[in-house]
Amino acid sequence: MTVKLVIGTQWGDEGKGKVVDYFSKNADYVVRFQGGANAGHTIKVGDEVYKLHLTPSGVIQGKVGVIGNGMVIDPETLIEEMDELTKRGIKPKLLISDRVNIIMPYHKILDGAEEQLLGDKKIGTTKKGIGPCYTDKIARKGIRAIDLTNIDTLSKKLDDIIPIKQKIFSLYNIDIKLNKKEILGKYIEYGKCLKDNIVSTQITINNAIASGKNILFEGAQGTMLDVDFGTYPYTTSSHTIAGGLCIGTGVGPHHIDDIIGIVKAYTTRVGEGPLPTELLDKTGEYLQTKGGEFGATTGRPRRCGWLDLVVVNHSCTLSSVNKLAITKLDVLEGLKTIKLCVKYNIKGKEIDYFPADINMVKECTPIYKEFKGWENIKTNSKKITDFPKEAQEYLKFIEKHLKIPIALISIGPGRKETIEV
Ligand code: GDP
Ligand code: IMO
Ligand code: MG
Repeated sequence: MTVKLVIGTQWGDEGKGKVVDYFSKNADYVVRFQGGANAGHTIKVGDEVYKLHLTPSGVIQGKVGVIGNGMVIDPETLIEEMDELTKRGIKPKLLISDRVNIIMPYHKILDGAEEQLLGDKKIGTTKKGIGPCYTDKIARKGIRAIDLTNIDTLSKKLDDIIPIKQKIFSLYNIDIKLNKKEILGKYIEYGKCLKDNIVSTQITINNAIASGKNILFEGAQGTMLDVDFGTYPYTTSSHTIAGGLCIGTGVGPHHIDDIIGIVKAYTTRVGEGPLPTELLDKTGEYLQTKGGEFGATTGRPRRCGWLDLVVVNHSCTLSSVNKLAITKLDVLEGLKTIKLCVKYNIKGKEIDYFPADINMVKECTPIYKEFKGWENIKTNSKKITDFPKEAQEYLKFIEKHLKIPIALISIGPGRKETIEV
């Protein structure tokens, strides 16, 4: 039995979908624990490409996908995603926590309106209603999956919530009238459609662990988007670090055997907020084009920069990462010089930690270690020693600096372009 967790150590889009799909071959359950349809996880199998937002990536390998209580789900998107997968020949086996919070139409409206009000101070959210839904959950005004299966409960909850949202709409000058009857009818229909999937998933997962099954937890976003430890307020609204797994599934920490931190061989970020190693030059464009760095959820171009080990070290510490998975190493090929940030310089002082104050982060200048680039990594490489020696040097330095072994290297989007160390 093994219980593994895969999490992002940067600003999301590290290749979690690909790595989770790879490890899914040995899993019985693949479980998501936070975030919602803001995530976009890509899995490439042969010529087929799947972009999943809510469904755990393990369903592509035919495994049971679990939507943990810590997520926020938009039932319409979920049903569409399930239908689309079924049409493509993959009937997803899916369990949904009865406690999961539901994204309602007013959450999406408010996400857009808040961003508009913020103007040039906007977060650059995915506008999927994530922040407003988590806000309601914490304010104890959320609608949960179980509520979709009981018309009286849902009706009473909407009677309480809709007038409040309507007041907020008028303060925001949003000229939309929420129609309770319409919302109730639509969400009860979603409930009917999903009722067989809605269960107390914490019981299922804990029983599975007790009976020796293999569980794979799939993080969404990345540590630098964590609501506490990321570049706040330019973050998402959930706990993306390892601790989020316990809260978001009802599984205690001592069950977790391996915590695999995914590190993209360079850095990307979508949306606003500081990115100390950002490259606003030809090299940045090179990484964006070669890496196909466009958002899987919103299609927005991703900002690109050198790999930042101050960031990755911060992330690995917060989640007790014990194994690294390096992705997109192939994208770095063809560059003459490759840089790696090892510390920051702030007003003449060197620091090796990530500051809480984003104004301070904005003043940080990366201190780089330079590496000689390499021409190309053979796609049929089977082990690290098949790589050009310059690529081996780059990887060895990362391992040594972070004091964490590399367990997997990805050199392309497909399943075969993966090297387990
Ligand atoms: P996630 O959100 O962490 O699952 O990552 P995304 O799917 O949003 O973005 C990662 C992108 O990189 C996807 O298009 C993947 O197919 C692709 N990808 C993953 N691993 C590799 C790799 O090693 N090399 C290359 N070239 N592409 C990769
Ligand atoms: P995956 O799982 C990259 C970013 C948004 C925005 C901020 C807040 O594919 O790695 P939100 O809609 O969550 O309120 O937006 O977080 N963001 C992501 N960036 N990958 C993601 O998910 C993201 N999910 C949210 O761009 O800056
Ligand atoms: Mg993504």
